[in-house]
Amino acid sequence: MRTVRYASYGDPDVLRIEEVPTPAPGPNQVLIRTEAIGVNFVETQRRRGQGPFPPALPASPNGDVVGTVEALGPEVTTVQVGDRVAATVMDNAYADQVVADATFLVPLPEKLDAAQASVLASPAQVALCVLRVGKLAPGETILVHSASGTIGHLTTQLAKILGAGKVLGTASTPAKREFALRYDTDVAIDYGSDEWADRVLEETGGRGADVIIDGVGGDTFLRGLDALAPWGRLVFYGAAQGMPSVPAMRLLGMKYVVGSAFYEWWRHEPDALRKGLNELIGYVADGRLRVAVHATLPLTEAAQAHRMIEDRAHTGRLLLVP
Ligand SMILES: NC(=O)c1ccc[n+]([C@@H]2O[C@H](COP(=O)([O-])OP(=O)(O)OC[C@H]3O[C@@H](n4cnc5c(N)ncnc54)[C@H](OP(=O)(O)O)[C@@H]3O)[C@@H](O)[C@H]2O)c1
Repeated sequence: MRTVRYASYGDPDVLRIEEVPTPAPGPNQVLIRTEAIGVNFVETQRRRGQGPFPPALPASPNGDVVGTVEALGPEVTTVQVGDRVAATVMDNAYADQVVADATFLVPLPEKLDAAQASVLASPAQVALCVLRVGKLAPGETILVHSASGTIGHLTTQLAKILGAGKVLGTASTPAKREFALRYDTDVAIDYGSDEWADRVLEETGGRGADVIIDGVGGDTFLRGLDALAPWGRLVFYGAAQGMPSVPAMRLLGMKYVVGSAFYEWWRHEPDALRKGLNELIGYVADGRLRVAVHATLPLTEAAQAHRMIEDRAHTGRLLLVP
């Protein structure tokens, strides 16, 4: 079978297709024949040896795999051979067959397509987690940064499902802002402009947003403190523009900064995650949570998928298919 690996950190071209033997699932693992693989931004950082978790080399990307269970390891009782599932795969995810931890498997209703299924593995769960951490209450105003991204376009829609009043979304280009408006952003703002925080204040009668969802970090995070209402919650969950530090002085206006990481939810709140997953399956199945697919590329073009993400060229989900 084929898998994508890299032996050194660097540009997307370090990603190489390799022929390897089909792996055997160990205890509490399953072997999955892949149908599609969701490609995530964080893998571009890991591939460059950057970000919070640079992998040991040689390495392989993680991903949101959709496929059919082909074999069960010892102790697996929750799925059967032949079941269609989605899974967060932590090793060799861009491959014809993958081994997944049975704990992370998402059983799929029949009607979901590969893109819908792929976001259930992690991005939709991450989006729900950040909204829960932000304690979004019905009627509140929320600002979602990078609203046209994979997690971004799911977050704007989920915010509306959870009862948000006004949903503001930022994006870097007119086309991305237009896209965000189609996915439940009420007002799309150019955060490349120095005045974006003023624009948020204008849209909120001078008060600021009650919740800000920030997967971008860097200067955007710092500027976000100016756009946050008193008692507002700024949720930090990613650092596409660099890792910010929290200036405590700026919190004196009764502002909260709080973080959310999917793996911490798994460690500390597994029951809440499972409950949330069931909600998400319902939202996707009944069409309330829509998934935009920017491109579906063959496995052999994994480097191109990474390039698109690094060029900030995509809106919504990017998929690889074997
Ligand atoms: N905490 C967690 O549990 C968790 C889990 C998974 C992912 N994450 C993080 O969530 C964030 C979003 O992930 P995603 O998979 O949805 O990514 P994505 O689809 O690639 O979206 C990322 C967005 O970030 C914006 N961006 C700003 N600066 C960028 C830069 N220098 N390079 C690339 N993009 C940049 C882009 O939008 P514009 O062009 O409009 O700026 C892009 O749409 C990432 O920071 C990721 O690491 C966190």
